[in-house]
Amino acid sequence: MTKIITLTLSPTIDKSTFVDQLIPEKKLSCEPPKFEAGGGGINVSKALKKLGTDSLALFPAGGMPGKLLQSLLEKENVDYHAIETRDPTRENFIVVESSTNQQFRFGMPGTLLYPNEETLILKKLKQLAAGSEYIVASGSVPPGIKADIFARVARVAKKAGARFIVDTSGEALNEAVDEGVFLVKPNLGELSNLHGKGVLSNESADDAARDLIEKAKCEVVVVSMGAQGAYLVTRDQTMHVQAPVVKKLSTVGAGDSMVAGMVHALSQGKTMAEAVQMGVACGTAATMNAGTELFKKADAEKLFRWLIK
Ligand SMILES: Nc1ncnc2c1ncn2[C@@H]1O[C@H](COP(=O)(O)OP(=O)(O)OP(=O)(O)O)[C@@H](O)[C@H]1O
Ligand SMILES: [Mg+2]
Repeated sequence: MTKIITLTLSPTIDKSTFVDQLIPEKKLSCEPPKFEAGGGGINVSKALKKLGTDSLALFPAGGMPGKLLQSLLEKENVDYHAIETRDPTRENFIVVESSTNQQFRFGMPGTLLYPNEETLILKKLKQLAAGSEYIVASGSVPPGIKADIFARVARVAKKAGARFIVDTSGEALNEAVDEGVFLVKPNLGELSNLHGKGVLSNESADDAARDLIEKAKCEVVVVSMGAQGAYLVTRDQTMHVQAPVVKKLSTVGAGDSMVAGMVHALSQGKTMAEAVQMGVACGTAATMNAGTELFKKADAEKLFRWLIK
């Protein structure tokens, strides 16, 4: 039985390329494109695999991009279950301008999901949840799906006795937290939105996180703060983990890498403090790689050893 299930409602094929200079009106000749499986939960599954932890990725997939998504995961030995959709899986486009090293990320709208597809996803999730330890939902909610979706997933998790981790934003995050989850990993913007009392700073983040805990809506709040690392707040613990200073190439996938680092550590019986240290190590290690590449295991382990010293 798979112990960790990831859920991605808005998966994508990330298509990336390089061009010397982005110039309007001109035909731009790009380098051969690279195709990668993407979307929050899928990234978490890929990152877990790098750390040697198995998971099962559940997601909708349609059309040719949906087929490609599945074959890319097969190549990476990531277990998955895809729910066939009527509409094709979206494709995002990433261009790096070689002359300046600037990255341009074009995100397409999520693929519309139909009610029967949503029903099939939840049905499969219920089956998989039985016997699982962690359910990790990450990424945005696509058109066709209501903002209460992760609150419903939270109920599935509770019923199955699994710990639910959700990393999303806006109303869907609010409703999940109102239902009650094990762990949320908001960044400052997401936490401000959750807290609903204006824009928070690094200094006020721990108090806002404590508010969430005291309202008994989540057991653990990990506030990620980019280069400033993260705050861990539980009922009886507040800890700041400073991010190590590294040469940053691209922050793409830092949040998902962080979530994977935490789940990996927790599934190995590590403490919450160690899990956040591993999360920060994986998040920061992800910034050491260019483009959409997540992190190298060796970098993550090295940063973790440095953090626990
Ligand atoms: N510039 C950076 N330098 C060092 N570490 C970083 C940097 N940016 C991100 N990280 C690491 O990655 C973790 C998560 O990053 P961040 O707080 O930016 O999450 P996020 O906003 O959810 O990211 P995402 O855009 O991937 O969703 C941080 O806690 C930190 O460990
Ligand atoms: Mg994020």
